[in-house]
Amino acid sequence: MSDQHEPLENRYASAPAWRSVDSYFAAALVDEDAALVEARESGARTTMPNAEVAANQGALIGLLAQISGARRVLEFGTLAGYSTVWLARAVGVGGHVVTFELEEQNAAIARENLERAGVADRVDVVVGPAADSAQRLIDQQVEPFDLVFIDADKPSNPIYLAAALELTTPGAVIVIDNVVRDGAVADANSSDPRVQGVRAVIDAIAANPDLDATALQTVGEKGWDGLIIVHRR
Ligand code: DHB
Ligand code: MG
Repeated sequence: MSDQHEPLENRYASAPAWRSVDSYFAAALVDEDAALVEARESGARTTMPNAEVAANQGALIGLLAQISGARRVLEFGTLAGYSTVWLARAVGVGGHVVTFELEEQNAAIARENLERAGVADRVDVVVGPAADSAQRLIDQQVEPFDLVFIDADKPSNPIYLAAALELTTPGAVIVIDNVVRDGAVADANSSDPRVQGVRAVIDAIAANPDLDATALQTVGEKGWDGLIIVHRR
């Protein structure tokens, strides 16, 4: 089980076979150009090295955006902008991505990566606490988003889901990252606030009759983790 104080690198410890399979899939199927490789590698210079999604997971969220025909995407948690590049490319020319990042240091790295990837003109990187940034968009009654990717501080997951529901309409897709945490999610008595944040958002989804959802475990270069996928009826 994860220890909150363990370095991220240790938390992502993964079996050699999981890594080889991720490398194989990524090499065979995931067409990362130089800008995506640079964005992924620049994660090392952020305040949370190695926390970006894996290449095959970045491709998954890009595919979900494409399959759902998303034109407007909202992301909680930019970091170096690796997933942001996938999402921005998926929405295409004329699409728009808004991404929330707490740390200016990370946002600066993300802006460079978005520029290099040729998508800076369709992305707004908004610096500050994501709950405040989201509330501003709610107050401004911005056009609804088609897909929301929640991948920021885990204790705030329920707040981010509530904001996502204010900022979307029926048909929207919501994806939540890091919901397994080396299996810790199954421990109702976990003292880890990140685990409780995941469990609380799962309860909120389950209690909402307008949301269809499932969760899947993943293994790979990011260790043992998983995703929730939600569709708003
Ligand atoms: C954490 C956050 C992430 O988005 C991630 O992919 C991995 C870990 C974290 O808060 O520990
Ligand atoms: Mg994540």
